[in-house]
Amino acid sequence: MVEVVTVEGVGFRYAGVPVLRAMSLGVESASTLVVVGANGSGKSTFLHLLAGVETPTEGCVHRREGARVALLPQRTQGIDALPLTVAECVAIGRFSPGRLLRRLGRTDRAAVTGMMERLDLAHLARRRLRELSGGQRQRTLIAQTLVQDADVYVLDEPTAALDTRSRHRVHELLAERSRGGAAVVLASHDTAEASLADHTLQL
Ligand SMILES: Nc1ncnc2c1ncn2[C@@H]1O[C@H](COP(=O)(O)OP(=O)(O)O)[C@@H](O)[C@H]1O
Ligand SMILES: [Mg+2]
Repeated sequence: MVEVVTVEGVGFRYAGVPVLRAMSLGVESASTLVVVGANGSGKSTFLHLLAGVETPTEGCVHRREGARVALLPQRTQGIDALPLTVAECVAIGRFSPGRLLRRLGRTDRAAVTGMMERLDLAHLARRRLRELSGGQRQRTLIAQTLVQDADVYVLDEPTAALDTRSRHRVHELLAERSRGGAAVVLASHDTAEASLADHTLQL
């Protein structure tokens, strides 16, 4: 098994208040890690440390050189301020750092269209994000995350607002990503969702 992210002796405090302590684990390619725990147990904090948007107070998080991380945070309100359509929002996932100014090619457009179909968004392609229901909006952001070519997909409670059918579709897509060789890390407070996991981390 190839470790794509290694967590070594990690601790994290917000303004001195400890949230995570002495954590060590490896995130493996081609596998799914589900992080479970009650509200406030530190799931989001842990995912932010994995993705590199927070820095540990102790220890270190090492990402394999060149590893591409796709993160879907739990809180995404900020994006509603942008006048993006669903199709534009999903297409953002095909731009990568360093290639922001290139035009999307045929493969990118096919990936965007295919992902919108898989998540039942095709009929909403021209709607603005702020004109969507909570579940439609969440599916759009999941599509933006999963349309990326990443080595690690980190999703924070992605299915919390979804109906059973949509949840099932998301689970299928995640399973495909991990079968395709990516590492998938998912936070969930739903213990049933832990059945997707090759590994479970209880916080
Ligand atoms: N920005 C912040 N500043 C201070 N405390 C925070 C901040 N974000 C989260 N916390 C606290 O850290 C703990 C873990 O939060 P979080 O990682 O969001 O947990 P979870 O995702 O499992 O619900 C909680 O007690 C929360 O109140
Ligand atoms: Mg959280």
